[in-house]
This record gives sequence, structure tokens and C-alpha cells, in this order.
Amino acid sequence: MAETIAAHGGVLVNRVVTGEARRDLLAQSREWPRIPLSGWSLSDLELIGIGAFSPLIGFMGPEDYDAVLETMHLASGPVWSIPITLPVDHDVASRLRPGQRAALVGADDDEVYGIIEVTDVFTYEKRREAELVYRTTDEAHPGVRKLYQRPEFYVAGPVWVLRRRPPERFAEFHLDPAATRRAFQERGWRTVVGFQTRNPVHRAHEFIQKSALEIVDGLFLNPLVGETKADDIPADVRMKSYQVLLKHYYPADRVLLAVYPAAMRYAGPREAVMHALVRKNYGCTHFIVGRDHAGVGSYYGTYDSQKIFSNFRPEEIGITPLFFENSFYCEKCDGMASEKTCPHDASYRYILSGTKVRQILRSGQRPSPKFTRPEVADVLIAGLAEGVGARG
Ligand code: ADX
Repeated sequence: MAETIAAHGGVLVNRVVTGEARRDLLAQSREWPRIPLSGWSLSDLELIGIGAFSPLIGFMGPEDYDAVLETMHLASGPVWSIPITLPVDHDVASRLRPGQRAALVGADDDEVYGIIEVTDVFTYEKRREAELVYRTTDEAHPGVRKLYQRPEFYVAGPVWVLRRRPPERFAEFHLDPAATRRAFQERGWRTVVGFQTRNPVHRAHEFIQKSALEIVDGLFLNPLVGETKADDIPADVRMKSYQVLLKHYYPADRVLLAVYPAAMRYAGPREAVMHALVRKNYGCTHFIVGRDHAGVGSYYGTYDSQKIFSNFRPEEIGITPLFFENSFYCEKCDGMASEKTCPHDASYRYILSGTKVRQILRSGQRPSPKFTRPEVADVLIAGLAEGVGARG
């Protein structure tokens, strides 16, 4: 069987406790302080537990936090570009002491999802974090806005996951890194390219995926389905659109679809690095970084998310980034092309902004098939109409 790529830091982390050990911890945790977690933090907890964030075994303390902000490395050395922290308010912070264990519970204190061995409780400067992670302190940036809304303290320490959130839908597409690694092996894929997306797959996405697939064994389509900003297309609608696209346009034995249950940071370049490391943990050997990866508005240069990789030695990253230039349908080329391969005037290019394409879909129209496959457009139109109905 084909070997899989080593996880980031060498070992795939597994902090999910089951069986008797789990029952014991659940019983003990009744006596411990309780820390309510937002949906975002619950998703971070799970991603740590299943090893998607290897080598992290918990929420970051001040040393790692500073090292990540200042150097894009953990204090112990490996590359890490985005702080993974657990925000808590003053009330909760005042009840926690280093050395203590605490129960990690849902926002309305319903279930115990995990436990933390508290090592630090610390304050942080939001504007500093915003400037270093997001390259802006502008509250209009959706990641910065979220940061500014957080409570004032971070709790740090190793965690254990005791309860997984049951997927509301699409359970078959919830695969942990250990499972995707097995799936790649079973398929005999020695090289796998990971694709991050928070959008439906339009023709430009399809073009860069298939261009990459020409040189590797398999494609791992790994849409982010955690928290996104309100005007992004909802994950359940997207999931249907991916399935219909794969059914009609992709060879089934070359693609694996599974969700990435993380919150979207919109941190552009720094998030691109994290996205690559996480896909290495899922077992990918290659990772696609196109134009303005994980960007939003005009906060980042078109290729900043590619340029950031030059800060690292390839072996520090471990997964091979595949960079793609802005892609589109060109009338003169009579096909998909990119700025790298198309010599024609921009007026021949069929390009729509995200806002424009959502406008077209919401009005019940299919965008041109040069932009979106008709089967995908139909799913999106139906899904968006349902969403509007549900919201009244
Ligand atoms: S992202 O926030 O998840 O990066 P999106 O879903 O739009 O947003 O993009 C997924 C991947 O496709 C990213 O690597 C992005 O850079 C790339 N991409 C999106 N559109 C294009 C395009 N027209 N040309 C080249 N790359 C693109």
C-alpha cells in the first residue's frame, strides 16, 4: 500500500477519548469549572482533537501565541500561521487557575464536549492580533470584526475531546484525517491535491482542480463548512452543488469529497499557509493556492497568498503548494485559460464577481455555462430560493 505523507510535526494528533476513559472523565468533570464554547471554538476543539491541527494538542498559550504572531512558527519550531486560542470572558477567566482542569461545554452549557488542562489564562491586544494576522485593523474585515467581538481573555492548555458534534446533514462527507488518509491509501493514490473552498465550484475552480489533477493521482475536494460570513452561500446548498458537479463532470475514482469543519478566518495569506498545513494533515501531498486565496474585499494583493510561501523552506511546509493564476473562460481561446496562458485582451474574458453571480442566482437565472455548470446553477438557484423562503 502507498505510504501517506507525515502529519505536520511528524505525528497525527489524536485527542479523542472513547470508552471507559471517556466515561470516567465525564463523571469527574462534573466537579470542574465549566467553560462555554462558541460554535467557532467548538470547531477548533474538534479540529485539534482529530489531528487536523497537528501538531497542536490544545489551545495556544502566550509563548506560542506570540511566536505565531511574530514569526509564523510555534515556539517549538514548526510553521504555524494563525493563532488557535480559546476566548473567555472575565467571569470565566476569574474562576480558572493554571494546573486546574475544566469542562468545555456548549454555548448554552448543554453538553460536555471536552476538557482542558489549564496552563495559562492571559489577556491579549486585539489590534496587534488584527494587524499581524489580518494585515488590517479595519472592523469592516469579517475576521477582524469577529476578533473585536471576542471576550478579553484567552485560556490555554492541552485538550481532550469527549463528544463529537453529530453532523446535521451530509454525515458521509464528515471524514477525519485518519479516515481520509486511509481512503487515499485504499485508492492507491500516492499524490493527492487538496482544494479548499468556501464557494460553489465554478468553472475557474474546476479548471485549476483539473489542471492539478493532470499531474497527481487524486483530488481531495475539501470545502470549508464551518462559520462563514452571512453573504457566502450556505454550506448545505454548496454540498449539494459539489455532489451534482462531481456526478456530471469528474471521474468518480479520482476525487474524494469531504468537509473541512473549520471557521473561515478570511485572513488571506496567513490562512493559505494554515489551509495547506491542515490539508497535509488530511494526507494531501499538494495544495492549490489560486488568486486571492482566503481573501475578502481588497485587503490582500491578488497573489499575496502565494508569495507568503517564500518565507518558508519547502521542507518546513512539507506539502507542495501549486500556484494558479487568475483563471477564466476566454472567447478567443474558446476555453478555460489563465493570465499565464491566455494572450488575449481582457474584454474576451468571461469574469463575474462573487456578488454579481449571487445576484444572478438569487434572481433565479443561470449564469453563463462559461462561468458555472448548468447543473450546479440549478442546485444553487433552488437552494437560495429555499433559504430566502425559510428566512421569510
Ligand atoms: S477561499 O476563500 O476558500 O480561498 P474560493 O472558494 O473562492 O475562496 O477559492 C478556492 C480556491 O480557488 C482558492 O485557492 C482560490 O485562490 C482559488 N480561486 C478562486 N477563483 C479563482 C480564479 N478565478 N482563478 C484562479 N484561482 C481561483
